[in-house]
Amino acid sequence: MTIPRASAIVGAGTMGPGMAAVLARSGSQVKLNDISAEVLDRAKAGTELAAQVLDRVGAPSQPGGSVSFEVDFPTAVSGADLVLEAVPEKIELKREVFANLEEHCAATAILATNTSGIPISEIAKGLRHPQRVIGMHWSNPPHLIPMIEVVPGEHTGDDVRAKVVAIIEAFGYEAVVEKEVPGFVENRILYAILRECLSLVERGIITEADMDTCVKWGIGYKLSVIGPMRLLDMAGLDIYESVASYLNPDLSDSAEVPQFIRERTASKRLGMKTLGGIYEYTEEQVRERRAEIASGLIAVRKVLSGL
Ligand SMILES: NC(=O)c1ccc[n+]([C@@H]2O[C@H](COP(=O)([O-])OP(=O)(O)OC[C@H]3O[C@@H](n4cnc5c(N)ncnc54)[C@H](O)[C@@H]3O)[C@@H](O)[C@H]2O)c1
Repeated sequence: MTIPRASAIVGAGTMGPGMAAVLARSGSQVKLNDISAEVLDRAKAGTELAAQVLDRVGAPSQPGGSVSFEVDFPTAVSGADLVLEAVPEKIELKREVFANLEEHCAATAILATNTSGIPISEIAKGLRHPQRVIGMHWSNPPHLIPMIEVVPGEHTGDDVRAKVVAIIEAFGYEAVVEKEVPGFVENRILYAILRECLSLVERGIITEADMDTCVKWGIGYKLSVIGPMRLLDMAGLDIYESVASYLNPDLSDSAEVPQFIRERTASKRLGMKTLGGIYEYTEEQVRERRAEIASGLIAVRKVLSGL
C-alpha cells in the first residue's frame, strides 16, 4: 500500500486542513497538529469544508482514512509514516520543528516540508538523517490544485523521492520533480508574470481591470489546457524566436518590489483581508468573490481532469 497508513501534518493554518482532507480521503489516518488549540479548533471546520469540496469534484477515495486533531506534538507525529510540515515560512522555526521530528518519529518516517522556497538542504542542515527530508510543495488551495512540486535536497535519498512521487500519484495528484532553486518553479513563473503585469499597470499602459481580463482569457485560459512548452510547439518556435528577439529586451527585469505594491502595503491596504488593496471590497463582496473562485476552480478542475 503506497498511501501511508498513518500520517501527520504539523501546522493547521491556511494549508494544513486541505492537505489533511486529501490524505484522509486517500485512506490515511491523519493527525493534524498545531501549537494553538484555537487554530486546531478552527481547522476542524476547514477540514470538513475541504472534504465537501473533494466530494464536489468527485476526487477518488479510499476507505479507512480519518483526521484527528492533536495539540500534543509527540502524540501527533510519533506513529506517522509520513509527516508534512506546514508551519510559517521561517527557517529557524522549520529547523526547530525538524529537529523535534527527528526526536519523536520512527527512523523510517518520511519528513516533508511544504516550504514555498526555503532550500530543503538548509532546512535539513544539522539533522542526523537528512536523507529522509524532502520538499513537497502543495499549491493553495491544496485540496483543489492536484499538482505538487517535489524538491529533493542535497542529501535526500532517491528512494525517498520515489516514495513521495508514488504517494502523490496514489492520491490522484500529479507530481513534478525539481532541483532546488529559490522560490521553486511554480512561484518563479508566477512572480515573473506578476512583475510584468505590475510594471505595465504602473506605467499606465493598461488598467487593473483590463489587465485581469487580458491575462485571464489571453493567457490563463490557454495555459490551463496546454502548458507553456506545448504552447511554444503550437505557436511555432520560429515565431517565438522572432518575437523574443525584439520583445525580451523590453520586458521588466527590475529587481525591486514595485512602488505600486510598496505604497499600498505601507498604508495597510493588503487586499481582501483588509477590504482594500488593488480593488475595494465590502465583507459581503469578499465572501462572494471567494465563493466564486472556489466554484470556478471546482468547475475547471472537473473539465481539465477529463482531458
Ligand atoms: N498559504 C499559501 O498560499 C501557501 C501555499 C504553498 C505553500 N505554503 C507554505 O506552507 C507553509 C504553511 O503556510 P500557511 O499559509 O498554512 O501558514 P499559516 O501561518 O496559515 O499556518 C501555520 C500554522 O503553523 C502553526 N505553528 C507555528 N509553529 C508551530 C509549531 N512549532 N508546531 C505546530 N504548529 C505550529 C501556527 O499556529 C499556524 O496555525 C509555509 O511554509 C508556506 O510558505 C503556503
